[in-house]
Amino acid sequence: MAKGDEAEVYRALQGVVDEELGSDIVSLGLVGPVERGLLKSKVTIYYVGGAPEIQDELRERAQAALSAVGSFELKLQALDPEGQVALRERLLDPESVSAREERKPVFSRPSSKTRVLGISSGKGGVGKSSVSANLAVGLAIRGFDVAVLDADVYGFSIPKMLGVERFPRVVDDLIIPPMAHGIKVMSLGFFVEEDTPVIWRGPMLHKTIEQFLVDVYWGSLDYLVVDMPPGTGDITLSLQEFLPRSEVFVVSTPQEAATRVAQRSALAARKLKLPVRGVIENMAGFTADDGTNYPIFGEGGGQVLSSLLEVPVLGSVPLTMGLRRGGDQGSPVVVAAPDDPASKAIFGVVDAVVAMGPARRYRADLKVQAK
Ligand SMILES: Nc1ncnc2c1ncn2[C@@H]1O[C@H](COP(=O)(O)OP(=O)(O)OP(=O)(O)O)[C@@H](O)[C@H]1O
Ligand SMILES: [Mg+2]
Repeated sequence: MAKGDEAEVYRALQGVVDEELGSDIVSLGLVGPVERGLLKSKVTIYYVGGAPEIQDELRERAQAALSAVGSFELKLQALDPEGQVALRERLLDPESVSAREERKPVFSRPSSKTRVLGISSGKGGVGKSSVSANLAVGLAIRGFDVAVLDADVYGFSIPKMLGVERFPRVVDDLIIPPMAHGIKVMSLGFFVEEDTPVIWRGPMLHKTIEQFLVDVYWGSLDYLVVDMPPGTGDITLSLQEFLPRSEVFVVSTPQEAATRVAQRSALAARKLKLPVRGVIENMAGFTADDGTNYPIFGEGGGQVLSSLLEVPVLGSVPLTMGLRRGGDQGSPVVVAAPDDPASKAIFGVVDAVVAMGPARRYRADLKVQAK
């Protein structure tokens, strides 16, 4: 080799991290042997799926890392099926492997440390997806490992709100979700053509949700934020079945009519034995430049809902241009404008969710033995 030995090559390539796979390409086994040449040595790097620009980016990053060691000819090669099986095995811990065998999400296991936060609302258009996206990114900003699942299969909007430009990749039969703003993102939006109406039957939806939960590589998460479809339909039932440990958070505008519908969705969750943990009021007033506050969607609904459900209001997110713009531009307001009043309210929700800790559950298997 002109300069640098094999160990140095590997050391340099350890700096090339595949964020979605959660490790560097050497540890992932994606670097082949170094072939010595008279003038230049050749390094093979394996890649999994992805658009051509992802390969270009990988090549550039690998080349930059290697430039410190010497001059190399870089060969990018698609990982073959056998390699994919090996990679999948490397990615999944034993707990995930056995959960997959049972076709159950790893989060449903009592040993799972992942808190599943179901963001629900009775009505559509109250800002459920905006709250889900910002809450998830806010949790990641606080240092947690977070993913968001867009389970609103009828109106998926999360990928756009988070500016996700990549599609999921597939390693053997494991779906690797793309990442944006430090969080993993999974949505039906990746699997259907834009502007195509989605017409699903209940069992098909059930299967899709199962696939999203079981076949996706979630890694080790602190929080899974689920943007639930409005209402109390099939998906809520599926989620309850797959994720019996989820906690429900209800989003509502301060309007009286909205509160009533939101209450219904909360009661439906309770009927399914899912703990309702709090209310998040959204679109709560707009403050004009002169400081005047206009309660466009009414006032006080969050408090009313909180008393009815006997859970706290975790935050009241005002109507701001920043929040709307952030969603439209794929750069959530908590990232684009952390000082925006909407961001501050969302960080308040983030901190309240963290502080309250997971819901306590009754465990039938834990019994006190009387002597
Ligand atoms: N606090 C806010 N300030 C300004 N705009 C907001 C706010 N909350 C939501 N919006 C805007 O309102 C619209 C609806 O919000 P969003 O899509 O989050 O609601 P949703 O409840 O998920 O709706 P759907 O039922 O269609 O899924 C979006 O354009 C969003 O940018
Ligand atoms: Mg939505």
